[in-house]
Amino acid sequence: VPAEQPYRTAYHFQPPQNWLNDPNGPMYYEGIYHLFYQYNPHGALFGDSMLWAHSASYDLVNWFSLDHALIPSEPFDINSCWSGSVTILPGNKPVILYTGIDANNNQVQNLATPKNLSDPLLIEWIKYSGNPLMTPPDGVEGDNFRDPTTAWQGPDKTWRVVVGSWSNNQGMAILYQSDDFVHWTKYQDPLYSSIKTGMWECPDFFPVSINSTNGVDASVKNPSVRHVMKASFNSHDYYIVGTYVTELEKFLPDTDFTGTSLDLRYDYGKFYASKTFFDSKKNRRIMWGWVNESDSTEDDIEKGWSGLQSVPRQIWLDKTGKQLVQWPVEEINSLRDNQVSIYGKQLESGSIFEVSGITASRADIEIMFELPELEEAEFMNSSWVDPQLICDREDASVTGTFGPFGLLALATKDLTEQTAIFFRVFTGQKGYRVLMCSDQKRSSLRNELDKTTYGAFVEIDPSQEMISLRSLIDHSIIESFGGNGKTCITTRVYPKLAVNNEAHLYAFNNGTLSVTISRLNAWSMNKARINCRGGLENTA
Ligand code: FRU
Repeated sequence: VPAEQPYRTAYHFQPPQNWLNDPNGPMYYEGIYHLFYQYNPHGALFGDSMLWAHSASYDLVNWFSLDHALIPSEPFDINSCWSGSVTILPGNKPVILYTGIDANNNQVQNLATPKNLSDPLLIEWIKYSGNPLMTPPDGVEGDNFRDPTTAWQGPDKTWRVVVGSWSNNQGMAILYQSDDFVHWTKYQDPLYSSIKTGMWECPDFFPVSINSTNGVDASVKNPSVRHVMKASFNSHDYYIVGTYVTELEKFLPDTDFTGTSLDLRYDYGKFYASKTFFDSKKNRRIMWGWVNESDSTEDDIEKGWSGLQSVPRQIWLDKTGKQLVQWPVEEINSLRDNQVSIYGKQLESGSIFEVSGITASRADIEIMFELPELEEAEFMNSSWVDPQLICDREDASVTGTFGPFGLLALATKDLTEQTAIFFRVFTGQKGYRVLMCSDQKRSSLRNELDKTTYGAFVEIDPSQEMISLRSLIDHSIIESFGGNGKTCITTRVYPKLAVNNEAHLYAFNNGTLSVTISRLNAWSMNKARINCRGGLENTA
C-alpha cells in the first residue's frame, strides 16, 4: 500500500488491501462480534476466486483479522465462495449457508460448520461433505440462484430459508424447508416475488418490533412484530414492510415494490448487499452494508484497494410502522473527541460559518435546524416526484426559500471543493415536504469520478419537529442520517485538496429566509484499530 493514502478511512471497516464487497454472516457469539466479507486476495478489483475473509471484534469498533473462513476448494465451490449468512442453531451452534460457484459455474448453496465450538473466534470452518444442499431448481438459470439468508424456525419447528433469484421475469425469494438443516426441500411458491424488480441479490427477511427499537431473533413470530423483506437490485437495497403469514408460507407486504422512485431504500446513496443480524448482547438488530468506490478502476488499482463497509447501524421500525429507522451503533460514540457545541445560532440568508476545532476529515456532527415562518415555504410543483432529480436540478448552488441549508463537508477554505448535505422545505398538497440532498458535484477538482447527486424525502412534519442531520465524515466516505435516521444517504468523495488537515467543515444557508441552528455538536473522531497488525491483544 503506497504511503500517501488520503482516502483510506479512520473508523470504517476495510481490509489492509485488495477488493472487498458484501458483508457476510455477521453474528454475535460468546462475547465476540464476527464479520465475514467477500474478498479478493489477488487484487483491488472483483475476482474469479472470491472467498470469505473473517474479522472479529469485542466492541463493533476495533477489529482484528483472522484466517480466511471459506476458500474455494471443492467441486461445489471451486470457482468462488459467494455471499451467505449465519444461523445460530439451538444449543448456541452457529452454521454458515453460502453460495458456491461450482465446477460448472452454477450457483449452489452449501453448509459449513465450526471445527471447534469452544473456540469463540470460530477460526476454522468445515464444509459439509454432502454439499451442495441446494442446486438451481427447474426454471432457474444456474447464475440466478444465490445468497441464502439467515434461516428461521416456524411454529412447527421446521427450518426455513430463502435464496435470491430471478425467473419468469420476476425477482424472488425462493423458499426452502428442512427439519435437520441438511436436507432441504423447495416449497412450491416463493416466499415473495415481484415483476417490478431485477434479480434479487442478498435478500434479507427478518422481524421488527412494533413500538420498540429492540430487535428480535429471526424466528420470533407473534403479534408484537412485523416483518421486513429486503432485496438488492438495480444498485440499491430496497425493502417492504408487511405480515408474515406462516400458515400460508407467504409474506404479505403492506405495499408492493413499484419499480419507481417511491420504493423505500435503506440508503439513498451508495449502500448495497446489506445484511442484518440479531445482537443478543444488547437486544438490537444491526445492519452492515457494502459501500463501493466512486473513483475509476485505474484509481482502485493504484490505491491497491476497493470497497468499505458502512458503520454498523442499529435498525428498527419507525413509530408510524411505515418505514425503518437507522442509527449508527452507540459504540461508535466511543471514538468521539474534542467536542464543539453551538446553540441558538441564526443562519441568515446566504451565510456560512466554519465549524472549527475538530478534525474535519474525520468527524461526527449532529445538527438541529429550526424554521420560523414556515408558512413562507415555497410551493412544490406537483410534477416533481423523483427526489433525486430535484436535488440534482436544485443543487446546493441554487437558491430557494427554505434551503438549501445544511453542511459543507470535506471542503477547502475557498470552497472550490465541498460536499453539500442539505435540506429544502416545500409546501405541497399534502402539507410540508422535507427534501434531503447530498450534492457531490463540487466534491473534488479531480475528474473521472462518479459525482452523482443523491436525494430523498424525509417523512417528518417540520411544523411539529426540528429538522435534524447527523453526518459521519471519514476521509472518503460521508454517511448522513436525516430526521433522526429516517432518511440515510451515503456517499464516496475524493477531494484533491480538502484532505487530512486541509479539510474544513461549514454550516451554510443558501435560502432567502434565515434558519436557526438550535443545537450543533461536532466531534473529532479518533482512529479505530481496524485489521491492523498486532491483532486481538490490541483491541481488547
Ligand atoms: C452482491 C453479489 C452477490 C454475490 C456476491 C459475489 O454484491 O453480487 O449476489 O453473492 O456479490 O461477490
